[in-house]
Amino acid sequence: MRLIENIKKSAKQKLRTIILPEAEDERVLKATQIVLEEKTANIILIGNKDEINANAKSCGANISGANIIDPKSFENINKYVNELVNLRKSKSLSKEEALETLRNECRFFACMMVRLGDADGLVAGSNSATSDVLRAALQVIKTAPNIKTVSSTFVMETVDGKFGDDGLILFSDCAVLPDPTSEQLADIASSTAATASSVVGLKPRVAMLSFSTMGSAKHPLVSKVQEAVEILKSRNVDFEFDGEMQADAAIIEAIGAKKAPNSKVAGNSNVLVFPDLQSGNIGYKLVQRFAGAAAHGPIIQGLNKPVNDLSRGCSVEDISNLVAITATQVV
Ligand code: ACO
Repeated sequence: MRLIENIKKSAKQKLRTIILPEAEDERVLKATQIVLEEKTANIILIGNKDEINANAKSCGANISGANIIDPKSFENINKYVNELVNLRKSKSLSKEEALETLRNECRFFACMMVRLGDADGLVAGSNSATSDVLRAALQVIKTAPNIKTVSSTFVMETVDGKFGDDGLILFSDCAVLPDPTSEQLADIASSTAATASSVVGLKPRVAMLSFSTMGSAKHPLVSKVQEAVEILKSRNVDFEFDGEMQADAAIIEAIGAKKAPNSKVAGNSNVLVFPDLQSGNIGYKLVQRFAGAAAHGPIIQGLNKPVNDLSRGCSVEDISNLVAITATQVV
C-alpha cells in the first residue's frame, strides 16, 4: 500500500472538498471519520441531517467535521434545476423532472454540486451500480475539454514488487466501455498515460494488448488494436506506446525481446490497455485474486471534474482510499 500512502500525502497538501452522496451507508459514515481524522479531504454528505447524524451515532462514526447538505431543503436548488434543464435540453427535460431528479437522486445532485464548483469531486457506488454513477457523471459533469471518451483504470500493486515500476502497473479499461472502437482504444491509452503520470507519478510505457504480437495472428479483433496503434502514431502523443502485443510480451523482458525485439515498451510496460471490457474486467480480477495484488480504482478518466466509482462490496478503507485518489485528481 505504498501507493496509497503517497497519494494521501498529496491529498493532505491539496485538502479538497469531496462529496460522499450515499450517506445512508454505514461504511460511508465510518470512512468519513477516517478521512476527517487523516485530513485527506473535507467531506460533504448528502441527505437528511437528523437521519445521517442518528445513523452515525448508532454505528459509532464521528462525523462531526462533515458538512451535511439536504437536497430537499437546499437553498440554491433553482440554480441547479436551471443548469440541469439546460444540459438536457436536447432530451427535452422539464423543470419539474429536473427538480424531481435533483431532490431524489443523490448522485445527480452531487454531480451538479461538483459541476457548479460547490465541491471538487465525488465518490459513490457503495450502494449503486457502476452504470448509475457513470450516467450521472456523463450527463452532468461531461467530458473534459478536447476529450471524447470517458474510461477507467486500475492501478495494480503487486505484493512482491514484480512487473511495471516496482510492482505498480495500470490496467485499462476495466469498468466503462464495453466494446471500444480503435479510436476509443487510442483515447483510453492517452487518458491512462496521463493518469499514470499525474496520479501515480510514473513515466508511462503503454502496451496495446491483444492475443497477437506484431502481426503473429490475423483477425478483425487484432486489426482493431493495430488500428488503435496507428491512430496513436498519427496523433504524435508524448508517451511511449507499442502494440499489438500479448500480455507476456508486454511484461516479461525475455518474451518481449523475442516477440517484439524492436519495441521500447515490450517486456517493461507499466500500462496495459485491454482490447475490450470483458478482457479488462476479467483480467484485473484474476490478478487481484490469484496474485493477491491490490487493485486501486477504478479511477475514472476523461471527465471534466473527478468522479469515482466504488464496488458495492467495498470496505471502509476502500472508500477512504478512493476519496484520497479523487482529491489528487482535482486540477
Ligand atoms: N465516454 C464519453 N461519453 C459517453 C460514454 C463514454 N464512455 N458513454 C456514454 N457517453 C455519453 C452518451 O453518448 C450520452 O451523451 P448525450 O447525453 O449527449 O446523449 C451521455 O454520455 C449519457 O449517456 P447515457 O446514454 O446516459 O449512458 P449509456 O447508456 O451510454 O451508458 C455507461 C454509459 C453507463 C458508462 C455504459 O457504457 C455502461 O454501463 N458501462 C459498463 C459499466 C459496468 O457495468 N462496468 C463493469 C462493472 S465495474 C467493476 O467491476 C469495477
